[in-house]
Amino acid sequence: MGKIVTTKMEGNTEQYLVNLAPKPHGTLCKIGTKHGTDKANHYRTDGLCYLDIYESYFKNFKDKEVNILEIGVRTGNSVFTWKEYFSKANIFGVDINTSCKQFEGERIKIVIGDATDVKTINEINPSEIKYDIIIDDGSHINLDIITSFNLLWDKLSDGGLYIIEDLYNSYGVDRDILGDAAGTPANKREDISIFFDSLIREVDTPFKNKLSIHFWRHICIIIKSS
Ligand SMILES: C[S@@+](CC[C@H](N)C(=O)[O-])C[C@H]1O[C@@H](n2cnc3c(N)ncnc32)[C@H](O)[C@@H]1O
Repeated sequence: MGKIVTTKMEGNTEQYLVNLAPKPHGTLCKIGTKHGTDKANHYRTDGLCYLDIYESYFKNFKDKEVNILEIGVRTGNSVFTWKEYFSKANIFGVDINTSCKQFEGERIKIVIGDATDVKTINEINPSEIKYDIIIDDGSHINLDIITSFNLLWDKLSDGGLYIIEDLYNSYGVDRDILGDAAGTPANKREDISIFFDSLIREVDTPFKNKLSIHFWRHICIIIKSS
């Protein structure tokens, strides 16, 4: 049986019909809860959290020397989560907010800039090490998501994962929390739909390097051919 859960996120009230039957949370979710990232919230994905879903993809990378890039650092909660879970990873974070620089430290590099700007993308990683995992948790504006993806896809390693989060912002007026003062939504579903359709067509084209696309509630994971 589902239950309506009301929650307040960043000033916005959101309601979810969820199945809150207890589900086992994995190691990554527990680490995320400790660091306070909202990726550990479980009401959005039917009793699982984003991190539970990610763990099934991340397991093989856990103790390897991987490179992880996240767009959107905010209070550092997720970069600290990645640092603890991935024992040997180099974590790169990018954010337009200058205060995020404070979260830089051992195995964590923070670049301040706009992730839709090629100059920022080049500054993050001048030696052009390929990323094994890229997570877009930035503006959640469809055109930004598409621009960053187009700048970053070639920088993803073979077999790498490109994750786009919080797609409830992308899908349409009724679920769009990114409205302006007049309530006009920032996103048109059509923009993200055309983008996803182009990716699906590439999955169906053997000489392109998109192996598969996994859609979860509010999340898309695009896997590069190895
Ligand atoms: C949802 S928060 C990130 C939360 C963080 N990943 C976590 O899980 O704890 C989104 C962040 O994206 C940043 N942001 C928004 N637009 C951006 C852009 N164009 N480039 C880089 N960062 C951006 C905002 O400043 C904000 O800190």
